Amino acid sequence: MAELAADTILRVEGLKKHFPVRRGLLQRVVGSVKAVDDVSFSVQQGRTLGLVGESGCGKTTTGRMILRALDPTAGQVWFRQSDGQVVDMAALRGAEIKQARRDMQMIFQDPYSSLNPRMPVMDLIAEPLRARGWTRPDCESRVAELMDLVGLDARMIRRYPHAFSGGQRQRIGIARALALKPSLIVADEPVSALDVSVQAQILNLLQALQQDLGLTLVFIAHDLSVVRYLCDQVAVMYQGRIVEQGESEALFTAPRHPYTATLLQAAPAPDPHVPWMQDIDETETEAGDTTAPVELVDGTTAAGGCAFVPRCAHATDLCRQQGPILMPGSTRESQVQYGAAHLAACHHQDELQLRGI
Ligand SMILES: Nc1ncnc2c1ncn2[C@@H]1O[C@H](COP(=O)(O)OP(=O)(O)OP(=O)(O)O)[C@@H](O)[C@H]1O
Ligand SMILES: [Mg+2]
Repeated sequence: MAELAADTILRVEGLKKHFPVRRGLLQRVVGSVKAVDDVSFSVQQGRTLGLVGESGCGKTTTGRMILRALDPTAGQVWFRQSDGQVVDMAALRGAEIKQARRDMQMIFQDPYSSLNPRMPVMDLIAEPLRARGWTRPDCESRVAELMDLVGLDARMIRRYPHAFSGGQRQRIGIARALALKPSLIVADEPVSALDVSVQAQILNLLQALQQDLGLTLVFIAHDLSVVRYLCDQVAVMYQGRIVEQGESEALFTAPRHPYTATLLQAAPAPDPHVPWMQDIDETETEAGDTTAPVELVDGTTAAGGCAFVPRCAHATDLCRQQGPILMPGSTRESQVQYGAAHLAACHHQDELQLRGI
């Protein structure tokens, strides 16, 4: 059993997910997409970690592996259950997974497609309770309580999803996620499908719930402005790896990786509306329809050295030859200013004077 620091609820170590890439009539495996490639981070109880990066960088895949909705290729996901027991989600089987999942839930990006249109709100929110044997009257009073908690009128309990606005549907999704009183929530771009005016309401709700219920949150986003508002810590992902990680404020005011600086300067991009890949067959992906690095079977990678080189204004020969490791800055100044908890995977992190916001 792993040691988890007393204040830590989740520690992900060396997490990888490689999807097979198939080609041709016989669908032979010709390589793999390294959707998530050696990701490690921890989250303390009651805090929020933002997982940020552009479309296809592996955020959802990471989130789904935390809940073991997807089997990792390698790595561990240490999680402290509400009974105090520390388990490795990646190594659990059958009933053990179900048991551990009681304490963790996921909120999805698209409140339109993640709710079954043929189920009334009562059944949608009560589904996880029913699955655990709750009686109908018990479900009904718990659902009314949950609707109240997320700011929905409990008189609408018999209505169907189409009667609700996008923001209200996301509230239904949140109520459903809270039904079993989880301690950890992975929120996968919970506001990016919503109108800007509604986004703030849902973010406020999540923040209030987190404080009132002592929830720990892993918040996935591609919009950094949202993350700054909500998150204590941020991990920036690029092509399946974490390229920068640190306390939110340090990362926003003094980014140490050129990619983070690019994200900070970029205006919020239109949302690609990538659906949640719940039931996608792993064999369906064709080579070429991915932005994650594809490794061919003989072990050669599409890009040598640092993966960010093609887009980096500061790249040198060293960057082209050698992949950088995620580590703290080595100068005394950087250690004092940012603390050892601020890590970047960039050979030149000490020299670059990147602009924060
Ligand atoms: N079931 C699958 N089979 C094959 N490849 C997959 C599968 N699921 C994801 N991928 C690939 O893994 C990579 C990471 O995908 P993921 O959905 O985790 O990205 P993301 O960061 O959540 O992107 P977005 O912001 O668009 O939601 C992508 O290149 C994607 O094409
Ligand atoms: Mg995603």
